[in-house]
Amino acid sequence: MDYLMITGGCGFIGSNLIRHLFLNSDFKGSIINVDNLSYAGNPENLEDIKTEFSNRYIFVQADICDMDALADIFDKYPVDAICHLAAQSHVDRSIEKPDDFIQTNINGTYNLLELARKYMIRFHHVSTDEVYGSLGPKGLFTETSLYMPSSPYSASKAASDHLVRAWGVTYNLPVTISNCSNNYGPYQFPEKLMPLMVLNALGKKALPVYGDGLNIRDWLYVEDHCRAIVKILQDGILGETYNVGGNCEMANIDVVNMICDILDKMAPTIEKQPHRELITFIKDRPGHDRRYAIDSTKITQKLGWKPEENFASGIEKTIKWYLDNQKWVERVQTGEYRAWMERQYKK
Ligand code: NAD
Ligand code: DAU
Repeated sequence: MDYLMITGGCGFIGSNLIRHLFLNSDFKGSIINVDNLSYAGNPENLEDIKTEFSNRYIFVQADICDMDALADIFDKYPVDAICHLAAQSHVDRSIEKPDDFIQTNINGTYNLLELARKYMIRFHHVSTDEVYGSLGPKGLFTETSLYMPSSPYSASKAASDHLVRAWGVTYNLPVTISNCSNNYGPYQFPEKLMPLMVLNALGKKALPVYGDGLNIRDWLYVEDHCRAIVKILQDGILGETYNVGGNCEMANIDVVNMICDILDKMAPTIEKQPHRELITFIKDRPGHDRRYAIDSTKITQKLGWKPEENFASGIEKTIKWYLDNQKWVERVQTGEYRAWMERQYKK
């Protein structure tokens, strides 16, 4: 791969992936990061990479829904692979306004597939475990689990997975798909559970837990996800799907309690008030999936990948990153973000 196009590279996972490729992998080519800088995209995430790898890192501000803009990129650069992460990614926002999710996640993916087909290049789609819907108390999602998405977000990701698979089968496009569980780590936009709880706790604001707090997610440190994506890009069998998870099922309330206890040590309040006292149970998310859990046997056995970070140290590292990067936090909390938070939590 000489010219790898990464879409959504200014977001949480995309920026971690680009940093991982340049600093912690044997990737020698150039990266073209295509991102429209939506509310969740922040070029500052890659300021250091832009400086250090100026001859191998190219940023193009473009919307994946804009076919002409995408075609111009292909005219200009000999792109030989696409790793597609650009998406509207937040479930709660998809419930409020599904339109953007249909446009970007479905139509945007379609545009990229058509360009990949024109040039017959490698295409990897970074997708989610949410396409499988909700599990009961037992069982794990495997690559053959039925698609039963519950939210506009997961339905749009499911649709895009289907397009990718169909382009592989019908046009022989060299595609792969990964369906991954909840990521956490540095640079995650603060609308998501972990950073939201950390930042609210630091601001002595309520910690809004949906429903009874017993919904379960499987947590994976973002660097582990990046290593899995790189493995699949390099060695994944064409036409196949790989589930990626952290073997780390946690109820939301346990995650929030852990965050509170770590903050009691790392950032105690002057009054030494336990952060747990800020926890507030609020109205549940409509269609809230009860439990996700991933069987990662296939990627482990076939590609030799397994998660390396453990949850206790990963969550501490993540919290420390937010404590050490207050300027980043202030800058991403724009007017749009504040208005969203107000709408979301004043219901
Ligand atoms: P994010 O919201 O942090 O980043 C998404 C990026 O895509 C942003 O930089 C945004 O500006 C860009 N983008 C959005 N719409 C665009 C458009 N129309 N054109 C160009 N760029 C656009 O999301 P994330 O958490 O980094 O997720 C990245 C991908 O990984 C998504 O496809 C998501 O579905 C998938 N995923 C996320 C997780 C998770 O836990 N965060 C888990 C599994 C899969
Ligand atoms: O499973 C992978 C998915 O994980 C990705 O595909 C999505 O892009 C990503 O956003 C994430 O989706 P979730 O809905 O699981 O993540 P979120 O951080 O929004 O919520 C995690 C859990 O915490 C979920 O059960 C809802 C709950 N929650 C969330 C927020 C924001 C709360 O209880 N309170 C909150 O304020």
